[in-house]
Amino acid sequence: MKTQSLGIGIIGSGFNAGFHLQAFVGVRDATILGIWSPNEKNAAQAAAMARSLEVGETKVYGSIGDMVADPDIEALWLCGPNHARIENIEEIVNAVKRGRGTLKGVACEKPLGRNVAEAERILALVESVGLRHGYLENQLFAPSVTTGRQIIWSRGAALTGRPYLARAAEEHSGPHKPWFWRGSLQGGGVLNDMMCHSVMLVRHLLTPLGAPYSSLKPVRICGQIASLKWTRPEYVDRLSQMMGDGVNYRTEPAEDFASLTIDFKTENGTLAIGEATTSWSFVGAGLRLSAELLGPEYSMQWNSLDSDLKVFLSREVNAKMGEDLVEKQNAEIGQMPVVSNEAAAYGYEAEDRYFVRAFLKDQPPALTFHDGLEVVKLLMAGYLSAERGRTIDFPPDGLDKFVPTVALGTWKPQGW
Ligand SMILES: NC(=O)c1ccc[n+]([C@@H]2O[C@H](COP(=O)([O-])OP(=O)(O)OC[C@H]3O[C@@H](n4cnc5c(N)ncnc54)[C@H](O)[C@@H]3O)[C@@H](O)[C@H]2O)c1
Repeated sequence: MKTQSLGIGIIGSGFNAGFHLQAFVGVRDATILGIWSPNEKNAAQAAAMARSLEVGETKVYGSIGDMVADPDIEALWLCGPNHARIENIEEIVNAVKRGRGTLKGVACEKPLGRNVAEAERILALVESVGLRHGYLENQLFAPSVTTGRQIIWSRGAALTGRPYLARAAEEHSGPHKPWFWRGSLQGGGVLNDMMCHSVMLVRHLLTPLGAPYSSLKPVRICGQIASLKWTRPEYVDRLSQMMGDGVNYRTEPAEDFASLTIDFKTENGTLAIGEATTSWSFVGAGLRLSAELLGPEYSMQWNSLDSDLKVFLSREVNAKMGEDLVEKQNAEIGQMPVVSNEAAAYGYEAEDRYFVRAFLKDQPPALTFHDGLEVVKLLMAGYLSAERGRTIDFPPDGLDKFVPTVALGTWKPQGW
């Protein structure tokens, strides 16, 4: 039997595209044929990386339209910055409308849009040309999450009742590029950047195996945002030095901590609670992803820094800064955890394999832009609750037009 391979083009050529390229090494039925980025140097580097990883004879395209027009490109992975999402999708859709190419589907990184209006527009645009769509949420595919959820639901929940509390957190010491720090570009602070993962993960853990996420209805939400670290005067200056003049947390801060508590109504009308936390003010060995799932007679815990590999490097090892031990590494000596295959451990590999199979079989993925839109609604409701300082019913009125104060560049942290 002939093995089918999905021809993929990647839009964007930064940090996230690099993670996907590494992940595709473990995906047997996909070939990365193209990269497009307005930054030709980045695009050339990403294409060279793809070729050296042997995930495809990857070439750089001159435009998104040209990439869509190539009949060998059957799917696109959208990994550009948040502020380019709409223009990237418009260009894809315009090319398809012109009758070019053989595109089957588009997979989009988080967030689908920077607010509900943007996410709705993106969903409407892809549906207007009948493209399949997949919402990329790697953490749902992390092998530890998949296995833990399977065991808890098939053993603990099956015999003693469904879980009632899920916790999830993504924390690190701050993003790598200036645009993430600027609410007006990125769409918010850490809540908009990273809470999407934890919100989706608590819902995933609390949803019965095989059931749609819609079986768990969010009914109330309580959000808090704060600037704990990066508006301290010494860190304002340090951040400007690291990221350049465009990032000034004295005049235009964004939150570096956020927490959301979501009340869900379960399929049998009971309450299940999701607690999601995220921060850019966590200083540990590096990026920490964690989750818990608790029920009447069981619990599970996942912490990505509890790795099976640790190295010790004495103070005599004066090596340069890097990210070779773990993403967002904060130190290079001492007893250090190492995540040996981050693209697999964080779920990118299983995620990419899943969406490739869905597009090849021309089946709707279990995670679509509808889920991406729902996540954006929850995040915006979180901002609304934080701004009002109280718990709100979900969905609140006016969510479709809401833009967080942080994204308008007018947010002032408490105590300012
Ligand atoms: N799943 C995750 O955990 C995760 C992690 C990191 C980033 N992301 C998401 O992936 C996306 C990219 O993030 P990143 O970390 O790679 O950012 P980055 O800044 O490292 O890279 C962005 C890339 O996009 C290119 N670019 C610039 N303008 C563009 C445009 N108009 N259209 C398309 N590409 C353009 C840049 O040249 C660069 O190569 C973001 O939406 C981000 O939220 C997801």
